[in-house]
This record gives sequence, C-alpha cells and structure tokens, in this order.
Amino acid sequence: MNGDSPPIRDTQPRPVPPVEGLAPGTAHDWLQWARRELAPHSDSAQADAEVLMAALLQTPRTQLHRALPQALAADQVLRYAALVERRRQGEPVAYLSGRQGFWTLDLQVDSSVLIPRPDTETLVEWALQIVGGRQHTLQLLDLGTGSGAIVLALAAALGERARYWATDVCSAALRVARGNAAALQRPVEFHHGHWFEALEADAPAFDLIVSNPPYIAENDPHLAALRYEPRLALTAGREGLDALRSIVGEAPQRLRPNGWLLLEHGHDQAAAVRALLHAAGLAEVQTRRDLAGHERASGGRHP
Ligand SMILES: C[S@@+](CC[C@H](N)C(=O)[O-])C[C@H]1O[C@@H](n2cnc3c(N)ncnc32)[C@H](O)[C@@H]1O
Repeated sequence: MNGDSPPIRDTQPRPVPPVEGLAPGTAHDWLQWARRELAPHSDSAQADAEVLMAALLQTPRTQLHRALPQALAADQVLRYAALVERRRQGEPVAYLSGRQGFWTLDLQVDSSVLIPRPDTETLVEWALQIVGGRQHTLQLLDLGTGSGAIVLALAAALGERARYWATDVCSAALRVARGNAAALQRPVEFHHGHWFEALEADAPAFDLIVSNPPYIAENDPHLAALRYEPRLALTAGREGLDALRSIVGEAPQRLRPNGWLLLEHGHDQAAAVRALLHAAGLAEVQTRRDLAGHERASGGRHP
C-alpha cells in the first residue's frame, strides 16, 4: 500500500506479515493512507482520519493507539475507505462519526441537526453566570434545541437546581435531542413546534430563555460550505433576522421578572439584535464576544 494506491477491494482479510512491528493492512497503515488522501481536502486530515478510524473500530479516540497494530478485515477496510471518500467530498466528520463534543458532553448527531459549534459555548457560559447565584428552582427554556446541545450543557452544569424545557420545529432533530437526554440521563421536557407555540398552555414563565436560532441570510454565499447541514437550522429570511425577531417579540410575555433572554447571532448582527431587545422593553441589553473576538450573543433582562 502506498499513498496513491486505492484501498484494497478484495473480500478476504489480508495476510498480516509483521513489518517493523506494524503490518501492512493494519489500522495504522490505513490511518496513514487516509491522512494522505485527505490532506489536499481538509485542514485537519490527521484528526479526521483518526476520528473516522475510532468510529470504525468503535473505540474512543483517546484509546485508538491501542488498536492501531491490529489488522483490519477486508469489510472494515471497505467501510473505512467509504467514510474517507465521503469526507474527501466534504461531508463533516461529525456526521460520518455520528458524534460531536460540546461543552463537557459527547453528543450523538445526524444530518437532521446542526453540528454544535464551540461559538455556542459563549451562550452557555453567559447563561451559567446569570443563573449562578439564584437560589430558587430555575425554569429554563432552549428554543430550537437541535441536538439538545445548549439545554443539555446547562443541565449538566446545574443538575436539579433547574427544570428544563426545549423546543424544535423539526421532529427528527427532537428525536436526536431526546436520545442525547436519555443517554446523559437528563430530564428535559421536549416539545415539537414553532418557537413558543410548541409549549403547553400551562407552561411556566422562565428565569432564562436561550436560543441559537437560524440566523444566516437566505442568499449568503457561505451557505455553500454548509450544504450538509439542514437549511431549517441555518437560514431565516432575507437578512437572517426573522427567527431572532419572532423570538424577541414574544419573549417578554414568557419571562419572569428579572428573567433573561440570551440569543446567539451572526457576528455582524449584534446591533440589530440589541435594537430588537430594546424595542421589546428588555433592560441591561448587552452583547458578548466569542473566543475569536466576534460579537456572538446578545441578551437582556425582563425588568
Ligand atoms: C442553529 S440550529 C441550533 C441547534 C442547537 N440549539 C445548537 O446550538 O447546536 C437552529 C435550530 O432551530 C430549529 N428551528 C428552526 N426554525 C424553528 C422554528 N420555527 N421553531 C422552532 N425551532 C426551529 C432548527 O430545526 C434547528 O434545530
């Protein structure tokens, strides 16, 4: 096997003669092959190759080194080669492996949900600072929960100090979120439907409402790079503000006095979102930057 040769296509396991401790056809060999295949297409070729190999061998990536000397069977090679090819075509590694890390969590993801982003941890951090000192049992709501990333990160940090609600208009996304909540043993009330309309008539007023809604403009050229992710999770009208506008418009009726609304948005939307929050009558309106220094989340307090 060399860098240019295609993966083997036979159906028999390859013989494994020992070569300097590692045999041709070992997981290590195929990892190196994948790294070379992916290098022209991905800035993270080594990491991608490792994540896909760990997924193939159903082992945590941190333990992958233990499995590297083992020979891959022909069917494993074919499955690995198929994953590498899909990655080469641009499919995100999270959809190929079915997992994505977020906050302290390892979440299941599929193509019905946005892949949770590190930027969104800005919102989680801010939310935890706001509710940190409160003593009563909190009522928290995550609108457009996707994989459940935000609500489950909050639940992991706050545990029984809060009760949790989450909504999404996409039932396939809610299935993923429910699966993640069950795997992490976090009780969340999930509701299907449009923003606040999804909630039951007797839903409480909330201490905190968080959302990372779709906020990309419909004709944004960056959408091409996001073609594997659900359009429903990405775009919101001509300027990308439609979902943010809907949520801010109704939030004051859904917040307790002193309750906060925190919203993720595009790096160039902070002024527009602050204007919406002011217009809705919220106080202490402010914006937080993400680790890259971009204005990433804005929020305000119900007076
Ligand atoms: C940007 S994704 C965020 C997902 C997740 N909260 C995260 O941060 O990774 C937006 C989510 O909003 C959901 N969504 C879009 N329109 C909606 C609507 N009208 N009502 C409720 N959820 C909606 C999408 O299905 C998607 O899961």
